[in-house]
Amino acid sequence: MKTLKHLFDNNLAWAAAIREKDPDFFPQLSKQQAPEILWIGCADSRVPANQIVNLPPGEVFVHRNIANVVVHTDLNCLSVIHFAVEVLKVKHIVVCGHYGCGGIQAAMDDHQHGLIDNWLRHIKDVSRFNADQLEGLGKAELLDRLCELNVVEQVRNVCGTSIVQNAWLNGADLSVHGWIYNIQNGILKDLETGASALCSDGG
Ligand code: CO
Repeated sequence: MKTLKHLFDNNLAWAAAIREKDPDFFPQLSKQQAPEILWIGCADSRVPANQIVNLPPGEVFVHRNIANVVVHTDLNCLSVIHFAVEVLKVKHIVVCGHYGCGGIQAAMDDHQHGLIDNWLRHIKDVSRFNADQLEGLGKAELLDRLCELNVVEQVRNVCGTSIVQNAWLNGADLSVHGWIYNIQNGILKDLETGASALCSDGG
């Protein structure tokens, strides 16, 4: 079996560099984590949460899946949100999509892709909910817009969870943000679709 030895070499060098700058970094961090941010992003290898915002270990609690989808019945994602909000008491939940998302593209093409098509149905739903905004757009423009609209929809889904609704009812200092990342230039954009309190439509 191949052992990926170079990754262990990388790891030793990485840990040594951090210890050299701050000998207490790992001992301190091992005692507790107190991140202020929950990041819900795409699993795409080009969109690594900590690196994009240049934050060290301990600062970002992360959930990633294909096309950064928040599904009401996904116990994995809901458990992450629950732990982040109720135990870690994060102050921000960021849903971060990205342009050029393969999940969004796959949802909108005419081929079958196997099991993942069932997951991508959620993206097809987003396109159906927003059909009026996508009408008449060329293919590239439509995909870019759908990447944005998907973030807006998933922010709405986060806000609508009982977890976030209850946090706001209890007066928690919790904001939900919708961002999008451009893999062509490494730049993040705030879609200004977030919320930080109860909305009349439940999110
Ligand atoms: Co993606």
